[in-house]
Amino acid sequence: MNKALRRAVIAGNWKMNKTPGEAAELMEQLKPLCEGAGCGVVVCAPFVDLHAVLEAAQGTGIGVGAQNCHWEQSGAFTGEISAPMLASMGVQYVIIGHSERRQYFGETDATVNRRVRAALAGGLTVILCVGEVLTQREQGVTCELVGMQTKIALGGVAPEELKNVIIAYEPVWAIGTGRTATAEQANEVCRAIRGTVSSLYGAAAGDAMTIQYGGSMNAGNAAELLAQPDVDGGLIGGASLKPADFAAIIAAAGK
Ligand code: PGA
Repeated sequence: MNKALRRAVIAGNWKMNKTPGEAAELMEQLKPLCEGAGCGVVVCAPFVDLHAVLEAAQGTGIGVGAQNCHWEQSGAFTGEISAPMLASMGVQYVIIGHSERRQYFGETDATVNRRVRAALAGGLTVILCVGEVLTQREQGVTCELVGMQTKIALGGVAPEELKNVIIAYEPVWAIGTGRTATAEQANEVCRAIRGTVSSLYGAAAGDAMTIQYGGSMNAGNAAELLAQPDVDGGLIGGASLKPADFAAIIAAAGK
């Protein structure tokens, strides 16, 4: 399938930034810049900001996402938030398996899989993050490792649920470091992930899957990364907090 037939999505990951008041302000700055975007635009905000962001996003076409959700619907899980809670607010997307969750909060491929299935069951679209650390890249195991992360994360996911899955390839060494993967590296791994999806669900499913690159994508390097045949958008951290930069990345994706 032609890349042009896949839906390119630029998603901002605000991480642990912005109070609700600041989030509303940032949305007001973003809104005019996102008008007429030629790609899907999503903002993934901290839980406490979601209400403000949803309100600001009304009628704009900007999708709203959270940054994690638990695998149970409710229960004794202090500090966690469930998929039905998010969906009931009007949240449409959720990031699952971000490397910061894996690194600092003990997320494993197995818990990522449980969260993915719960999010899909709750009606959310999942932005599933996979990626290698620098040692793994140096050991030459990137594509196998990312393929394995993808396979485990998608375990038990039905073919008809795949339309609600976006995969983000995020090399851990490129996140927040200013060190971006080259366009060729990004494309190679995104293509390998597409191959994994194809091997699990068939070629048509692989062809249709939106696969983003994330890791120090910015206004300067977005065009080259997004022009790659297997890169269908981006998951943007730091640059998503700067309205002009985020808008430039959206414009690059719409080309
Ligand atoms: P970065 O973060 O753009 O700041 O590198 C990307 C991400 O963690 O999703």
